[in-house]
Amino acid sequence: MLIHLPDEVATLDFAGRFFRGLPTGCLVFLRGNLGAGKTTFVRGCLWAAGHRGKVKSPTFTLVEEYSLQGRAVYHFDLYRIADPEELEWMGMRDYLRPDALCFIEWPERGEGVLPEADVEIFLSIEGFSRNLTVSPFSDKGREVLRELSV
Ligand SMILES: Nc1ncnc2c1ncn2[C@@H]1O[C@H](COP(=O)(O)OP(=O)(O)OP(=O)(O)O)[C@@H](O)[C@H]1O
Ligand SMILES: [Mg+2]
Repeated sequence: MLIHLPDEVATLDFAGRFFRGLPTGCLVFLRGNLGAGKTTFVRGCLWAAGHRGKVKSPTFTLVEEYSLQGRAVYHFDLYRIADPEELEWMGMRDYLRPDALCFIEWPERGEGVLPEADVEIFLSIEGFSRNLTVSPFSDKGREVLRELSV
């Protein structure tokens, strides 16, 4: 599924729709260059989940944790890790629980340690706007896509 997002508000709106169709315990990878809109997309999801505070980019902390609507939500940014093994040390496995929702920016940095995502978001910069692709990799991921198509 390919969507054109003319501005930031469009990204936030689409992320909200995406979030509302997301089953429990999904692993979501966000790919795309620096500034493509990955954190903006996660912010739209967290707002749709009822989060009203700030959404910090986890560039330095690696992970930001939220508890929303009784669900644990983890937002990762792996840009700064030097070796996928760092994920073992930080106890990545404990975050990837079936009851938790995980968003991971720069998943390519964790290749070999991270499992396959349920669904991937790919953002690309198109002048002043963005293009977004949603790709499912599991039954849960396909469910998300079905919800988006209705
Ligand atoms: N659809 C859109 N059209 C134009 N600008 C957008 C759109 N969506 C987001 N932006 C803008 O693009 C920038 C994206 O920044 P953001 O931090 O979300 O990128 P990122 O992909 O997380 O980058 P990084 O890899 O550094 O973490 C923000 O300034 C945001 O306002
Ligand atoms: Mg980011």
